[in-house]
Amino acid sequence: MAAIELKNIVKEYGDGFPAVNDVSIDIADGEFMILVGPSGCGKSTLLRMIVGLEDITSGDMIIDGVRVNDKAPRDRDLAMVFQNYALYPHLTVYENIAFPLRLQKGQHSDAEIDEKVRAASKTLELDEHLDRKPGNLSGGQRQRVAMGRAIVRDAKAFLFDEPLSNLDAKLRGQMRTEISRLQKSLGVTTVYVTHDQTEALTLGDRVAVLKRGVLQQCASPRELYDAPVNLFVAGFIGSPPMNFMPAEVKDGRIELPFASVELDAETRAKVAGHELLIAGVRPEHFADAALADDKVTARGVTFTADVDVVEWLGNEQYAYIPFDAPPAVAEKLAELESDLDGESSRHQIVVSLDAESNLKPGRPFELVMDTTRLHLFVPETGENLTLAPVAEPAEA
Ligand SMILES: Nc1ncnc2c1ncn2[C@@H]1O[C@H](COP(=O)(O)OP(=O)(O)OP(=O)(O)O)[C@@H](O)[C@H]1O
Ligand SMILES: [Mg+2]
Repeated sequence: MAAIELKNIVKEYGDGFPAVNDVSIDIADGEFMILVGPSGCGKSTLLRMIVGLEDITSGDMIIDGVRVNDKAPRDRDLAMVFQNYALYPHLTVYENIAFPLRLQKGQHSDAEIDEKVRAASKTLELDEHLDRKPGNLSGGQRQRVAMGRAIVRDAKAFLFDEPLSNLDAKLRGQMRTEISRLQKSLGVTTVYVTHDQTEALTLGDRVAVLKRGVLQQCASPRELYDAPVNLFVAGFIGSPPMNFMPAEVKDGRIELPFASVELDAETRAKVAGHELLIAGVRPEHFADAALADDKVTARGVTFTADVDVVEWLGNEQYAYIPFDAPPAVAEKLAELESDLDGESSRHQIVVSLDAESNLKPGRPFELVMDTTRLHLFVPETGENLTLAPVAEPAEA
């Protein structure tokens, strides 16, 4: 097991394009670190530099206190699990798991190999499949074989590149819990690339968000969710995503498309000098005014909105409310949307409501917005002006 330190890591490919640009992350021994970001932001490149499959243009890669920039992959002692698992179709599950040990010629006796393979197979519940070929296994079972191969090597760290992206939603959920359980019980330092929201938030001790090769924020899932440093992180983390709308600053208040919000003295000081900001509120921080908690009603603002589409999902429902945006905000939101790999150019907010709420599309509806959960971003830079410290749940 090992700590992995990335210090000012840069990767320029042949064409001089910086795929990874000055990224520094300290991954603690035993930590589960997630790398997320839109397609092309440099996640795989970063992982391949850690494992040694890609040269590092500049910066230091330090594993267990030793600089490994010039070490070959096999000397770094890390185990990588790829998206396609890279299993050998002609070998049994047993031999697939044993493969990395047989590769280290003469280092392990047959008895030793057998012991390691059986221990891994037990942990991964593969005992009854040891004699089968990978082609006859389900996606989840293949995934476990690939992990078995990583486990037998006693590697210093596990590196995963979107290991679950080929699986269907249900199996992905099961494997996600499996990986989490396994990582906790083995305590192996893990770096895991994904662009799945749920994987990022549920698996990681910390999550590093990348945009075009640049690290935006590296923090606990809760901190990323509640205190995103900028518009990009705010828009990337969360599903449905945070709502963004124009916020005109006027006389100690902000005017939103639907409501006017009085600012407290602290926020007023933070927004001083700005005329137009982008307000961000998550869908769950709205509620049906008729059903809302008294405390939320007391601290929030109540307003009437024209809902145009309703999606009822059984356990909750989403209501869509269109609005108009001034050009400066519209332009920034379009840019953000393209950074986030999205394609909607529609200005609307989505609010998540109780499934019992009696709302009908096309009719005005009374909502409460919890203004204590409002973020204010600077349109030009995307900076979040309203960052507050996040309280993590206490250790038991
Ligand atoms: N061998 C290569 N030569 C030149 N450019 C490359 C090479 N590999 C990747 N790139 C570029 O580097 C950038 C980062 O690529 P990378 O594969 O790391 O992204 P990613 O975040 O893993 O994306 P995805 O989510 O689509 O897997 C991209 O712009 C890509 O085009
Ligand atoms: Mg990739």
